[in-house]
Order: sequence, then C-alpha cells, then structure tokens
Amino acid sequence: MQLSERIERITESPTMAVMAEAERYKARGIDVVDFGPGEPDFPTPDHIKRAAIRALEQNFTKYTPSGGIAPLRQAICDWHAAQLGTAYKSSECVVSVGGKHAIFNTVNVLVNSGDEVVIPVPCWVSFPDIVKYAGGKPVFVVTREHEGFCLTAREVEAALSPKTRMVIVNSPSNPTGAILPDDEFAKIAGLCRRRGVWLLTDECYSHFLYSGRRPFSAASLPDAKNTVIVCGSLSKTFAMTGWRVGFVLAPEPIAKAVVKLQSQSTSNPTSIAQHAALEALRGSMDSVAAMLAEYERRRSRVLAGLRAIPGLTCTEPQGAFYAFPNISACPTRDTECLAASNGRLDSAVVARRLLESSHVAVVPGEAFGAPGFLRLSYATSIERIEEGLRRLTDFFSSP
Ligand SMILES: Cc1ncc(COP(=O)(O)O)c(C=O)c1O
Repeated sequence: MQLSERIERITESPTMAVMAEAERYKARGIDVVDFGPGEPDFPTPDHIKRAAIRALEQNFTKYTPSGGIAPLRQAICDWHAAQLGTAYKSSECVVSVGGKHAIFNTVNVLVNSGDEVVIPVPCWVSFPDIVKYAGGKPVFVVTREHEGFCLTAREVEAALSPKTRMVIVNSPSNPTGAILPDDEFAKIAGLCRRRGVWLLTDECYSHFLYSGRRPFSAASLPDAKNTVIVCGSLSKTFAMTGWRVGFVLAPEPIAKAVVKLQSQSTSNPTSIAQHAALEALRGSMDSVAAMLAEYERRRSRVLAGLRAIPGLTCTEPQGAFYAFPNISACPTRDTECLAASNGRLDSAVVARRLLESSHVAVVPGEAFGAPGFLRLSYATSIERIEEGLRRLTDFFSSP
C-alpha cells in the first residue's frame, strides 16, 4: 500500500511498542516486571480528579478555544512564573494535548524542509521522528557516559551550521536522568541567541530533580524570550499521563501559529481535562513533593542493585525516573544473547530475551540512539524493583 512519503519517514514509538509487547505477556497471565513505562505509577491526586468531576457536573463538556480556555492559559503562565521565574502573558501560551503534541506542533510551525535541528543523544525517542516528519534533519550531538551524559555549549556550537533552525534540550533527560547545569544552559541559550537559532526546552520532568536541586527554566534567563521556547507537560509532574495536557510558552507569533495548527487538526484539548489541569496548577503541590521523595528512595535501590551486577556501569540519574545502565560488558547465561554478541552484548537482543526468558520489560538503548544501554523506569513499587533486580542479576550471571 502506498502511504505518504511523510509518514514513511518515521517509525512507531519504540517505547510504546515495548509497552504493547509487555501487555501481551501480561494478558497471557505471565508475571512481568515492567520497567518499560515512562509514567508515574501514582494515581492522579484526588483534588485534581474532583475538579474533573465538578467540570462534568457543570457541563464543561463542549468545544473550547483551540488553544485552551483563557483561565488555564493564565494559570500556566502564573504557575510557570511562580515555579520557574518566568514572565509569560496568556497570549504567549497554548494548551496542547500533552507535551508530545506541544513539541510536535512547535517543530511543525518552525522547521522547514531541509532545516537542521540539533538533538543531544541519548535522546527521547520522539524528537528525531517529529523533526523528520516536519521535513527537518536531526543532527545528533553525542553525550558520553563517562561525562554523566552532560551536554556542553562547545559541543552544541560544533554542531551548528547555517542550516540550523533549532536546538532541542531535555533536562532532566529521558532516558539518562542527566541534568544540564544552569550555567551551561545559559551558555547554550546565549549561543542560540547569537546564532539566531531557536532553543526548544522540553521541561517534561522539570520538577523531578534529586538532592534538593531547584527546578530551572532557560526561559527565566535574561533576554531569553526571543530565543527560548518552553514545551511543558502535566503528565509526569501531576501523574496525569492519560489526561493529555501540555503547553507551549513562546513568542506570540509562534503561539498563534500553534493555535492555527491545532484549529485544523486536534482542536482543543479535552474540556474536562483542562478543568482538572486548572486545579493541578492552582492547587497544592504537596503530591509532587511526595512523589519525588519516593522516586529518590527507589533511585537509590535501583542504582545499588544494578551496580552490584558484574560488568554493568550506571551513571547516577540526577532527575526524572529512569536508570540507563550500560550492559554491554556484562556476562550472561542466555545462549541467544551470547550467540548474538561479538564480545559485547547487543542491547536490542538483551531487551528481547529479558522479556522472553525472565519476563522483565525494559527499553533497549537503540530506541534512544545509544546501543549497549537499557532504559529502566523506576516508576514502579520497591517490591517490583526488588523482584526485577533479582531477575536481572540472574540473567546477567556467568554461564
Ligand atoms: C522527554 C519527554 N518529553 C515529552 C514527553 C511527552 O509527554 P506527554 O505527551 O505525556 O505530555 C515525554 C513522555 O514520555 C518525555 O519523556
């Protein structure tokens, strides 16, 4: 079947594919330890759910403006100002159907065919495909394990060309948990400003930072507004992945263009979810602190358990809820993995065999442009983490 050239440029999200495969095992009654999903295992806080119920009862069940209801756009600006020190007006804010939609739309209103977009790797699976769908060309900057996967302005500068339209940064990072230090972020923003390149900052995990570190937005830097575009999401911060609410904060012409695109595609984010989001942003943030404390506890356990596996190395995640171990030098008892290795394990084969033989779901590093690694989400209970670590330790033991 002949499909459009545009759709043939991209592949289905590999993380979604892992989730679907793990679900097939679970449907057969198999006890899968699922380190796959990039979503909080906590329920959406009650006060947010109650706001949605009230919205239903009050019949907020109709179309809204394509870019979201005015009180929510204002609440996003107020919340971002209070939490991250920025100063956006509601005319510079668009509500989207999740953070992915916010990024997709922003890239599509700015990137022309042949434009280059700089993306640090390992990177979230959707950045390259969103860029390709828009006709752009991803230009990858490799960050290294022994440097904690930290991006530097020097490396970004080396990747810029006259064709560069945008740089995408995601801190804390999915999949590595690395954080871009504030001063390096400022250098990258300055570089982008001087070179007339947009800096898209994906703040999806902005509030999941460990060791008491404060959330930071590049949009709070002086003179940032004409260079920095914020794409944010309520999905992880408020355990609202299924509600699909995200946002763009950008100069007005860009915000207007995103609204135009939404008006001809999705139309508004769900009206009920918008009312829930309003409560999330205006109400108590206590649940966010409670989730963070629990993620921090799990991070310690996962890291200690992984680092006890011979041959495995793992940088300490500074934020988000993923561990990204390098398993290429591990021993294994798995004969298929051994047959496929040439002295170093192949992470795609390891991920497949882990699910098939040990019933542990992980995402192979290939999905993030980093073969040799596995991504483990520790957004799951300590009990499941312990069980998963037992199975991993067994899988990575000498034959
Ligand atoms: C780095 C990153 N950005 C954006 C998103 C989008 O999240 P959502 O569309 O649920 O808001 C995700 C989700 O996994 C992510 O990991």
